[in-house]
Amino acid sequence: MKREKMACKPHVLVLPYPRQGHINPMLQFAKLLSHRGLKTTLVLTVGITKSMHGEVGSVGIETISDGYDDEHAREKDTIEAILQRLQSVGSRTLAELIERMKASGHPVSCIVYDAILPWPLDVARDLGVLGAAFLTQPCIVDAVYYHAYRGSLAVPPVGSTFQLTGLPELGDSDLPSFVSVPGYSPTHLKLLVNQFSNMETADWVLCNTFQELENEAINWMANYMPMKAIGPMVPSIYINAHLDGDKNYGVDLWKADGAVMNWLDKREPHSVVYVSFGSISKVGPEQMEELAWGLGKSSHYFLLVVRTREKDKIPMKFMEETKEKGLVVPWCPQPEVLAHKAIGCFVTHCGWNSTLEAISLGVPMVAVPLWTDQPTNAKCVKDIWRVGVRAGVDENGIVRRDEIERCIKMVMEGEKAIEINGSARKWRELAMKALMEDGPSNKNINDFVARLATKKD
Ligand code: UDX
Repeated sequence: MKREKMACKPHVLVLPYPRQGHINPMLQFAKLLSHRGLKTTLVLTVGITKSMHGEVGSVGIETISDGYDDEHAREKDTIEAILQRLQSVGSRTLAELIERMKASGHPVSCIVYDAILPWPLDVARDLGVLGAAFLTQPCIVDAVYYHAYRGSLAVPPVGSTFQLTGLPELGDSDLPSFVSVPGYSPTHLKLLVNQFSNMETADWVLCNTFQELENEAINWMANYMPMKAIGPMVPSIYINAHLDGDKNYGVDLWKADGAVMNWLDKREPHSVVYVSFGSISKVGPEQMEELAWGLGKSSHYFLLVVRTREKDKIPMKFMEETKEKGLVVPWCPQPEVLAHKAIGCFVTHCGWNSTLEAISLGVPMVAVPLWTDQPTNAKCVKDIWRVGVRAGVDENGIVRRDEIERCIKMVMEGEKAIEINGSARKWRELAMKALMEDGPSNKNINDFVARLATKKD
């Protein structure tokens, strides 16, 4: 009897774009659904699972082929070819997976799919399954692309500010790089604009944000699609201790350095500058050198993440001269690091996960945005949420070492630091409240679960 009941649980497939910054928030969402009693399965491509470290707890894992079962073959292709193949092969292999699940007594009720891949919604419709788009970028950025989709976005002249419905006043350099720099990457721009091609018909549009953080943009988007804020998707132990969650997301595509947490344990509270540029951004050699020497000049300890393929950009002299005050590693357990009492600030590229993690853990930021949504996120960090500063660039677009040193000082010492830390504490509280019992994100997740349960009955 009990077994029969278990088999009838709604079953949700969660399909992220196979990259770290997309897997993390969607896996966290899968964990929250699983905690509420749903059967959840994370769907990854065969190729990506070959470089996976870690475990996903109560969430199941299934693989589908995207035509690149060897990840190295994928790296040789253009982004256009990769996306086309993911759609053509992925549509077929996803449908086969859903049929297999049905035959094995675990029929799928809903696919939660990464919004940048609109085609899983077509697969869901063909097979009579519900579909929820999951936006991994902030709602403000999604709103900019949605304006572009609707034809209501005119890129403003360099140096000017402008106002779009549902958005704060933005300068041209605050827009996502694919919009602000004409011809920067038409393929990425098309991908991000086309995500809206069928989104208005999805059963849900879930955004990794929370109502207080992006009230205006969420409300504006909700006029056109079933938009629900369900974030922040960070490991629940930091938000909702009673869920007894993991300290990190669970799946890493690189192996974290084992020495980091011990090293942090030896440092004084708020004494360390944590520096990371996420999982996909490339830092130019000159910028990397300036960044390194900026940390060298700063009077604070630092923990710097530089992925192996970027390591050669770090000057040897810097490594030798700073070995007493800094640790340079290829990858670390970032949420656990940000939650450590030794961390005083985060020098970040402002990828959306990094930004939300810092907000949720109350860590002030020095924003050094590089591309994609990061300039817009940096604008919000500095001027709207006031939880950090944005480093200025010179005429060549480089943040120089003196500027890095100045910005670190501003968020770590003195009057401005007190103000920023106060804001960071306020936003941390609001982030936690969003996922508490009566919090708006928690309610939206509960409504999602309740609707699936009703469909099942
Ligand atoms: C990309 C884009 O750059 C970002 O702007 C977009 O919003 C999502 O996709 P990425 O550049 O990797 O992501 O940055 P980010 O969104 O910050 O995601 C990186 C993730 O890797 C974070 O969850 C972070 O905790 C994790 N991380 C990073 C680690 O676990 N260890 C590290 O050493 C560095």
